Amino acid sequence: MNYPQLKDHWTPYILTMGDNYKRLNLDLDLGKAPVQLRVEDEENAEFCSILNRGNQLAFGGPKDMGMPLWVMLDCAILPSAMAGFMLPREYVPTELLQDLGVDDDYDGYVPISEYCACPTLEPGTFSGFSLHSHITGHGLATRTKAFALAVLGAKRQIGVTQFDNPAIRVHVRFGAMEIKIHRPIIHTHSEDSFVYQLDVPEIGELMKIARGEVEFGPVEIPKGQRWSFLHDDELAHGRLREHLANGGRAWLIPPGWRATERGFKIYMVLGE
Ligand SMILES: CC(C)(COP(=O)(O)OP(=O)(O)OC[C@H]1O[C@@H](n2cnc3c(N)ncnc32)[C@H](O)[C@@H]1OP(=O)(O)O)[C@@H](O)C(=O)NCCC(=O)NCCS
Repeated sequence: MNYPQLKDHWTPYILTMGDNYKRLNLDLDLGKAPVQLRVEDEENAEFCSILNRGNQLAFGGPKDMGMPLWVMLDCAILPSAMAGFMLPREYVPTELLQDLGVDDDYDGYVPISEYCACPTLEPGTFSGFSLHSHITGHGLATRTKAFALAVLGAKRQIGVTQFDNPAIRVHVRFGAMEIKIHRPIIHTHSEDSFVYQLDVPEIGELMKIARGEVEFGPVEIPKGQRWSFLHDDELAHGRLREHLANGGRAWLIPPGWRATERGFKIYMVLGE
């Protein structure tokens, strides 16, 4: 959806359990103070439902990668915090209100983006497992991810995405994405997926991205051979797999992913 004029009304939110707020970075200069939503509060129930419907819409519903409500509570809200942007109802395009199933009598904020990342066994490392935006092509997902990583105090991030997913363009803005697992043996879309890890920019740089002042963090390009391939080129996947199996390392680097006439192009560095 293409509604650039709404940018001034994007309002940041953080959704978590009340006790978690004291563990989050809340002193962030974002232009607007993030609205704190406690999952304990009955008044936030409809917001949470709309947020989950938005996630379902973005990820192909419950039969694909839409997040079940219990996962949203158990894995995103309780051990961590969901963060993103929302709009006052009066600024939400009618079409989006319909897509999100917003009731006529709901007059609260409507979430338009979200990022979830939960803490891992390595302190400072977060596993990012959901990013969506309903107003695409205006930096909303990029700003959302930056804001959420800043709130969580993340130093490093691990995640899974697909070679055909335009979100690679968003993730690669935060750092060179090292491929840790090529085509993980278990995933809803195992054949298309890869597990990546990146070093998160420091907080000042993250906040510049979160405010929309810059699009990229200071991405350091690893040493090695530059290479690009189409996402469905099996020979290329074979080469990548062999390189990794032989102890080599591989990173996606900016621009990371581009739609071309022949398919989606992936930009990498192969190194040691
Ligand atoms: C992928 C997604 C998060 C991007 O959201 P967004 O708000 O458009 O992201 P941004 O505006 O920050 O986009 C960053 C870049 O990606 C580009 N981009 C985003 N969606 C694109 C698409 N469908 N096709 C081509 N480019 C796209 C933007 O144009 C921008 O690049 P540019 O500035 O060089 O033009 C959003 O489309 C979405 O919610 N998708 C469904 C859920 C999903 O797959 N999430 C990713 C899980 S890993």
